[in-house]
Amino acid sequence: MRKNIVAGNWKMNTTVPEGVALAKEVNEALKAEKANCDVIVCVPFTHLCSVAAAIDSSVLGLGAENCADHKSGAYTGEVSAPMVASTGAKYVILGHSERRQYYGETSETLREKVALALENGLSPIFCIGEVLEERENGTFNDVVKTQIVEGLFNLNAEDFGKIILAYEPVWAIGTGKTATAEQAEDMHAFIRNVIAEKYGNEVADNTSILYGGSCKPSNAAELFAKPNVDGGLIGGAALKCADFMGIVKAF
Ligand code: PGA
Repeated sequence: MRKNIVAGNWKMNTTVPEGVALAKEVNEALKAEKANCDVIVCVPFTHLCSVAAAIDSSVLGLGAENCADHKSGAYTGEVSAPMVASTGAKYVILGHSERRQYYGETSETLREKVALALENGLSPIFCIGEVLEERENGTFNDVVKTQIVEGLFNLNAEDFGKIILAYEPVWAIGTGKTATAEQAEDMHAFIRNVIAEKYGNEVADNTSILYGGSCKPSNAAELFAKPNVDGGLIGGAALKCADFMGIVKAF
């Protein structure tokens, strides 16, 4: 059966020493009290090696927040999937709405990134979600389906099985405005159905679908109690160990 997962997305926050301290704190907290789910931190590229050395990978998973759409070569400033994998990271967030919105990432680039991540043994945490206008005009299901079809449905069933999905309504990210547990559940059930139509029920049932967008200790339990919500992708609340652990303990 699918895994329950709580993953932190630190975004562009913390210096290396601050990040190492935070990762160590989370690692210690998880050793003291075993989590009922997988726990992952996705950190800036600069932090990967130091954080990998500071944590116990059997307790806390490590991921990057992005990777390049090319394997190697003359792409100044980019960081490739093989580079990320060589740090010991096992996950990579791809297609976050901030990457789509501010850095022009398209489904076409995302297909390249997903392929390179998988080739290098990284599990993509693939983000999808509608903007406020699409929520309000009722096109949100179509928008999310298109993101999944265009970004991922070129994969065979075996590779699709390595994908973790994160539904993150853009209007809920960093705004303090969380989707209701019902809105999240409706969308997650819809997504699972879209997957089942393409790959069958077994693959769909085994896919972890995380919710992201202003998830915090006070609302995590209600969200995670929904049958199709398999955990969370956590931004702001991942930057404080107590808040992050409060969400982990919602399972
Ligand atoms: P937030 O961000 O928890 O700060 O809303 C979530 C995300 O963007 O992954």
